[in-house]
Amino acid sequence: MILLNPGPVNVSDRVRKTLMGPDLCHRESECAALFGNIRRKLLEAFVPGAESEYTAILLTGSGTAAVEASIMSCLPAGKRLIHVNNGVYGERISSIVATQRLGIAEIKSAWDTPPDPERILKSLKQEPAVYAVVMVHHETTLGLMNPVHEIADHVDGRGCVFVVDSVSGLGGEPLDIAGRHMYMVAGTAGKCIQGFPGVSFVLVRKGFMENVVKHPKRSWYLNLANYYEAQKNDSIPFTPAVQVYAAFDEALSELLEEGVANRCKRYARFASLIRDRMNALGIQAVLPAAYQSNSVTAFYVPEGLTYSVLHDRLKERGYVIYAGQGYLESKIFRVANMGALEEKDVEGFGDAFEEVLRQEIGGV
Ligand SMILES: Cc1ncc(COP(=O)(O)O)c(C=O)c1O
Repeated sequence: MILLNPGPVNVSDRVRKTLMGPDLCHRESECAALFGNIRRKLLEAFVPGAESEYTAILLTGSGTAAVEASIMSCLPAGKRLIHVNNGVYGERISSIVATQRLGIAEIKSAWDTPPDPERILKSLKQEPAVYAVVMVHHETTLGLMNPVHEIADHVDGRGCVFVVDSVSGLGGEPLDIAGRHMYMVAGTAGKCIQGFPGVSFVLVRKGFMENVVKHPKRSWYLNLANYYEAQKNDSIPFTPAVQVYAAFDEALSELLEEGVANRCKRYARFASLIRDRMNALGIQAVLPAAYQSNSVTAFYVPEGLTYSVLHDRLKERGYVIYAGQGYLESKIFRVANMGALEEKDVEGFGDAFEEVLRQEIGGV
């Protein structure tokens, strides 16, 4: 089955085989070496040249665990943050922030519109007590790229901490974490890094991490300080998903061999192939090209079809597409091109789509 949903993704045979490696105890030296390798590879991939300025904290849990751990850990006592919301994952950040009342202001924009960096700057100026800004890099809701680099410059310029959810970005979209002084970036193994779901991570500026250990603990499992202190002793505080980590390590080796920039280019190329093919079939994209990511495209469901019929007919042919969310649920469908896909998979999807259109509404 070809997965064209934005994670979990198709993985390579090489990554899949690693799952079947030897049984390992997480308190043994082999595991400490495995975790050390993963952390080293994450820094090499995502903060090249600034590895000594960052640390990677590994968590067993999906991408939300890494985002929630970042939010729970980033604030000193009494400090609050600005959160940006222009999609389902921005909304999730707002919900996490609300659990502990950590917000000072929410900057909301429409799902099909990137937030205006000037609005965030204005809000930073209006709220001198703000300590951090939290937002999504690639808003997977519609496959929209948020202008995180411009916003990072404003946040850094005001002396604040920038926390980024790049769960669906890292590996597929360029992100200048070190150059733009992003303090915390949350990611996951099971999307553009092409590992399995179940493990996630946060890249944190080391100097900042030394402050984080003094922040109040708002969660126990999702407190980054607990992980950081254990990591210093080559340990991990809770039982990790060992085999999934082993596969993650292999997926990171693959990423480094391909190169992050090349992977981003490959994704961009596959996304273009999908968009061109859909365009030729008269299927309209939801977002203008300038906002679109390298790995997810939202399209309107063609007239005469419903999402569920489209989904089911494509699945019968070996392709899994993804529904819209929220108010767009019945109106759109999403096609992701993350994962160990080949050009023939993307072409095959286009052929299958054309066949379904012909069969269901004719005239193509
Ligand atoms: C931008 C973004 N953030 C967070 C998440 C949550 O990740 P998970 O479902 O792995 O918890 C997702 C999932 O698609 C996402 O796309």
